[in-house]
Amino acid sequence: MPEQTLSFNMRPDRASEGKARPHIVGIGGTTRIGSSSEAALRFALKCAEAEGATVELIAGPLLDLPHYDPSDDHRSPSALRLVKSLRSADGIIISTPSYHGGISGMIKNALDYVEDMRDDQEPYFEGRSVGLIVSAYGAQALGITMASTRSIIHALRGWPTPYAATLNSAEKPFENGLPANESVAEQLRIVAQQTIEFAQMKMAVGSGAPKSEAIAAATG
Ligand SMILES: Cc1cc2nc3c(=O)[nH]c(=O)nc-3n(C[C@H](O)[C@H](O)[C@H](O)COP(=O)(O)O)c2cc1C
Repeated sequence: MPEQTLSFNMRPDRASEGKARPHIVGIGGTTRIGSSSEAALRFALKCAEAEGATVELIAGPLLDLPHYDPSDDHRSPSALRLVKSLRSADGIIISTPSYHGGISGMIKNALDYVEDMRDDQEPYFEGRSVGLIVSAYGAQALGITMASTRSIIHALRGWPTPYAATLNSAEKPFENGLPANESVAEQLRIVAQQTIEFAQMKMAVGSGAPKSEAIAAATG
């Protein structure tokens, strides 16, 4: 672990003591060893954990799902797990590489499974904050991929956070799986903080409890 990363401040100024603990589910990355979008997601979830959230990572092979088929009720174990996790999420962080100017097919396919939540009491990503991270080899793809991914989240009725992280892999943002500098760490920290803050606000105007508790109460 590079020495500098040890001094990254995970929770600089916003104490979350006494507030509800939202459950944040992170989905993203690629199947590539050393994926920067996965490294970014892992660090953002660490920040969320340091802010008091419970976190869950769904990355790499767990997202390597069969093409979503709306005409087939059968779901693979990984697909069932993905949807179950997303149902229990108060906030979600999505981290994608830019492939040819857009979200990667693997992450988009995973998001297509959110269709299975269409008849839920809170369908799709309704009422959930969604923090976004994009990794691309250049500035142009970062902006266009971020904008189009926000549109996907809107289509899913989610609440994209105002701030999103854009990481230029040409600048080598990670070293040994950790942010290579404070600017990268800060971006990811803000995404985590905003995802949590919105989730806490939503919980405060609702039952005050995380969705996972409501689901457990309803199912006994
Ligand atoms: C199929 C494919 C398409 C890509 N298209 C673009 C692109 O249009 N613009 C760009 O800046 N980078 C593009 N890249 C580069 C990736 O976005 C970039 O390397 C990213 O950081 C990879 O994420 P990862 O480290 O998580 O694998 C592409 C890479 C692949 C494999």
